[in-house]
Amino acid sequence: MSKDKLNVAIVYYSMTGNNSQMARWSEEAAKEEGVEVRLRKVAEEGTPNNPAWEAEAERSKDVIEATSDDLDWADLIVFHFPTRFGAPAGKMKAFIDGQGALWAEGKLTDKVVTATTSAENMHGGQEMALMMFYTSMAHWGAIPVFPGYTDEVLFAAGGNPYGTSVTVSHDEPLSDAIEAAVKHQVKRAIGIAKKLSD
Ligand SMILES: Cc1cc2nc3c(=O)[nH]c(=O)nc-3n(C[C@H](O)[C@H](O)[C@H](O)COP(=O)(O)O)c2cc1C
Repeated sequence: MSKDKLNVAIVYYSMTGNNSQMARWSEEAAKEEGVEVRLRKVAEEGTPNNPAWEAEAERSKDVIEATSDDLDWADLIVFHFPTRFGAPAGKMKAFIDGQGALWAEGKLTDKVVTATTSAENMHGGQEMALMMFYTSMAHWGAIPVFPGYTDEVLFAAGGNPYGTSVTVSHDEPLSDAIEAAVKHQVKRAIGIAKKLSD
């Protein structure tokens, strides 16, 4: 994938705004690195029925929905999704399951990928959700980039080596530590994707 500029797709699903916020920090970090960026959402199917859901629907209303073309275009894909019942949110999984044709054409091979999640409880399944997600990435032949403990900022953000994870419901803003961890994770993934593109 040798080329002048790296293509980075940021794909998020978010009902009450946490993963939407993390996706926007990813976008900022990617733009700081001078790469081509597409911010894309996996759409909500229901109708907003609480203030947090309504606010997120409003905030993401102009974001284009993710398609197979975005994944095909990308060298690096950054995924953001909530943990639900200890697993990746079903709407993100449905989006992944919708990539069978692209997968069959071999077009998901060698994509560099990295992921973050959020859950309401400290031990609510964040690590499980991320590792389940990376299982699907293995089937793609993708190359996962884990944050590990590669920077001090990760410790303040909870120290999840599989991907930045947040413990939050929908009634409080995400901390500066999470912003720093997301940005570090994305910049690290960009650095690795660039090395692979040489
Ligand atoms: C159907 C459903 C299942 C959930 N399952 C879990 C869970 O297993 N563990 C947990 O800690 N939080 C769980 N939550 C809470 C969300 O993961 C949490 O509020 C998350 O931060 C929402 O992200 P969002 O604002 O991007 O939509 C669940 C929420 C919903 C609606």
